[in-house]
This record gives sequence, structure tokens and C-alpha cells, in this order.
Amino acid sequence: MPEEKPEARIYDRIAWRYDLLETPMEKMFFSRLRKELLSDLRGSVLEVGVGTGKNLPYYPPGVELTGIDISPRMLERASGRAGALGLEADLRVMDVEELEFDDQTFDFIVVTFVFCSTTDPVKGLRELGRVLKDAGTILMLEHVRSENRCLGALMDLFNPLVRRLFGPNINRRTEENVRAAGLEIVSTEKRGTEILRKIVARRAANPEKLV
Ligand SMILES: C[S@@+](CC[C@H](N)C(=O)[O-])C[C@H]1O[C@@H](n2cnc3c(N)ncnc32)[C@H](O)[C@@H]1O
Repeated sequence: MPEEKPEARIYDRIAWRYDLLETPMEKMFFSRLRKELLSDLRGSVLEVGVGTGKNLPYYPPGVELTGIDISPRMLERASGRAGALGLEADLRVMDVEELEFDDQTFDFIVVTFVFCSTTDPVKGLRELGRVLKDAGTILMLEHVRSENRCLGALMDLFNPLVRRLFGPNINRRTEENVRAAGLEIVSTEKRGTEILRKIVARRAANPEKLV
């Protein structure tokens, strides 16, 4: 049996209080951003790190939704939420770093606040490139390390404590990781605060050139 990853342990432990912890940010920022991110989706959609299913209310009708998460406890909550919404979704426990899908399966991949938590973000992002169709799109909302030198250094300092208490890393350089995984960034926008990014990416025509 493979060894349990730290993120599975952390999120299993905090699943019961995750929605409660996030409520203020959700009300102030995130729910609006989720709605905007997901409003134009169609076809086959993979959501990675679906968590407690906070994006589920915002999927347009008719999408063929698959959701994965490494934490069974978080996924249980997503499943309850999908049931309450009457939404059909194929929800599975799976590691984004070892996706059990064929190459080029999905039209869209949705990721919100996940690559701050994974063990090896570049490996996971490479997997997204593999299972995304050639003409597919990756839509991400992520918080990242600040570009401000002092704030960035503070984020590095407090990262181990925040990771332990709340789950995520607060100092990930996600745009660099996206490029390192051989994906092409179509656009990246600061949303609300300097550290919150909406990133749109796709498979690179020639990944070697981008790295
Ligand atoms: C901060 S939560 C975000 C949940 C949800 N996407 C949201 O927007 O509320 C991060 C989620 O990513 C999941 N996760 C972390 N590492 C993962 C991995 N290697 N594979 C799949 N899911 C992972 C966690 O279990 C957790 O549910």
C-alpha cells in the first residue's frame, strides 16, 4: 500500500472545519471569483482537489463533471453537497500527481486553491497537461508568494506554521511551476489582492521551448 501523503492527512483532519474557516474569505472574494471562473464551461470537465465541493453550485448545467481529491474526508463533503444540489458528478479519491485518466480526456480542467497544498506541484501540473485535450483549457485560482520582497520573506518564514495549522503553503510560485510543467500561460491576472491569481493555461505547442 502506498504511503499516505501529508496533504491527505492534513485535509482529512481539517475537513469538518474547512468550510467554517473559509467563510469570511468566501463571502468577501471567493464565491464571486468561482462564479466568474466557471460560467462558460462546457463538455468534459475535471476538477482537481475538489475539496468540500465549493465550486459545485457554479457549474453550468450540462457539463460532464469529474472531481478528484486526495482526501476521502473532504470528498465525502463534496459528495453530500453534490447530492443536495441534485448534481451528477463522478467524484473519486485520486492524487493529482498520478491521475488515472487517459491522455487528452478533458475539455476543461478546474483548479482552485490546490497547488498550494500538493507535495510536487510541477508533477501534478504535468499530469494536467497530459489529460487535457489539445484544444483544452486549464482554469486556475491560486494564492501565490508575494512579489514584494519583505512580504515574500515573511511568507517564507511563516509557511511551516500555516502549513501545519491550515493545510496550504503560502509561498508557492505557481506561475513558474505552470511553465516548468511545460504548459503555456494564456493569461494571469491579480484578483482583489496581489497574491490572488486567476491563471488560464493550455498545452504548449512545443513544451521544450518554454522550459
Ligand atoms: C485548500 S483546499 C481547496 C479545496 C477546493 N478546491 C476549494 O476551492 O475550496 C485544497 C484541496 O486540495 C486537495 N489536495 C491536496 N493535495 C492533493 C493531491 N496531491 N491530489 C489531489 N488533491 C489534493 C486537498 O485534499 C484539499 O481538498
